[in-house]
Amino acid sequence: MRRRQFLTGASATLATPMLLTHRAFAAEPGAPLPIPDVMDIGPGAGNALTAQKGTRAFMSGAASDTLGYSQDYLGPLLRFQRGRTANIDVVNRTDDPITAHWHGMHVPGHLDGGPQLAFAPGQTWSPELPVDHPAATLWYHSHVHGQTADQVYRGLAGMIIVDDPDVDAGLPDDYGVNDIPLIVQDRNFDRSGRMSYDLGMMGVMQGFRGSEILVNGAIRPKLTVPGGLVRLRVLNASNARIYDFSFADGRTFHQVGTDGGLLPAPVARTTLQLAPAERAEIVVDFADRAPARLVSRDVGSGGMMGGGSMMGGSGMMNGGGNSGSTLEVMSFDVGDAAVTAPATLPKTLPSDIRDMGEPVRTRSFRLNLHGGGMMGSMFNTLIGRDGQAMGINGDSYDMNRIDQAVQLNETELWRIDADMQAHPFHVHGTSFQVISQGGRAVDPQQVGLKDVVLVDGPTEILVRFDKRATAETPFMYHCHILEHEDAGMMGQFTVS
Ligand code: C2O
Ligand code: CU
Ligand code: CU
Repeated sequence: MRRRQFLTGASATLATPMLLTHRAFAAEPGAPLPIPDVMDIGPGAGNALTAQKGTRAFMSGAASDTLGYSQDYLGPLLRFQRGRTANIDVVNRTDDPITAHWHGMHVPGHLDGGPQLAFAPGQTWSPELPVDHPAATLWYHSHVHGQTADQVYRGLAGMIIVDDPDVDAGLPDDYGVNDIPLIVQDRNFDRSGRMSYDLGMMGVMQGFRGSEILVNGAIRPKLTVPGGLVRLRVLNASNARIYDFSFADGRTFHQVGTDGGLLPAPVARTTLQLAPAERAEIVVDFADRAPARLVSRDVGSGGMMGGGSMMGGSGMMNGGGNSGSTLEVMSFDVGDAAVTAPATLPKTLPSDIRDMGEPVRTRSFRLNLHGGGMMGSMFNTLIGRDGQAMGINGDSYDMNRIDQAVQLNETELWRIDADMQAHPFHVHGTSFQVISQGGRAVDPQQVGLKDVVLVDGPTEILVRFDKRATAETPFMYHCHILEHEDAGMMGQFTVS
């Protein structure tokens, strides 16, 4: 009988599957988009995901010191199947404790890879994940308290696709051809071309934003697509940057999925906002064979909140450009490959969104840039010894304090509000429905199942948990601006 989960020492031998590289990595802007290798994760041994140190030349010049899972930077695309158990051996060959958190997956607390599950260099963590999740685009990343921003920045992140073998959504699904993962990040580079992460006080306060946009680890890459419908699975894996994507030619595309799975029906859009950790699946029609450029408006750290940030603009400290300008993300051209996709979009989609009923309880959360104190003292304590200047409901994160005790299978209304700037609020262990955002009611049918919501004014979500989390391995809720999370804008809760 295989153990449920355990830690083993450095002597454990593990089969490491060969990862084949579809396309060689090229180091200049405009190079082909790298397509992550796929690890199809089922039951049984042999699925090793090795956190390791690496180097990568992102541009001409010096190579950068990086981290990755089973590769130099980022990790393979993990494919899980609904209803099938997934066994993974996460091996730590870095110099520091790490975790592997399955962001968005509905698994119990002891399998979730949160801060309590950090494990040391030389150790292996072997969770057995019961995959009980609708088809969706999720992700994984390290989640060591105080280290998450740095470790994710250096590369400890990757995408997860959950497939549901019982459901055919009628969407493009030929991986790497018309079903494309796009992991979008922003990074800074020094004069020698090395990736840099200089986090001044402003970088902590606003969150870090870099001046170069990377997709799947390549700067402003290019992808050749077939001349038909193409599905893009877009993940904002940036530490703090909010994107407001569009195509340079203004074309309409359709959103078909959000964080937690498919929408009830495709939604026509010309822009797509994604805050850190949010995902969207969109379908773009390339039948006219015209090349296209994916761009983003440079949104300030204030998000939509009054159009400005508290400190007067994006990128002021990080060289991120001026608020309102346009960032190039990547480009597409249309090749001669045969179109394998469905020719038209389905009118409806097999969504898992459902009526959650009336909430039996309300909880309120206020995200504080300072842990309960006044603005003035923030400047004194922000870069203080413990780095714990931020909080929620007046308390900075404390691994030894349980902030909320939630009952299994009860619908609750959570009201979230925030100080000063927009914060992406994330909840572990479930997907939720947004019912109002920024003080305005929204249509859950258009917003879909979520595990991150951008809180830019009063926001309400309906939430319910069907996975347990004990006080030893509780679930987290936190701001997904990783610098804020590390500075203490996080709480934890049990589900029983
Ligand atoms: Cu994406 Cu608590 O994390
Ligand atoms: Cu998470
Ligand atoms: Cu925040």
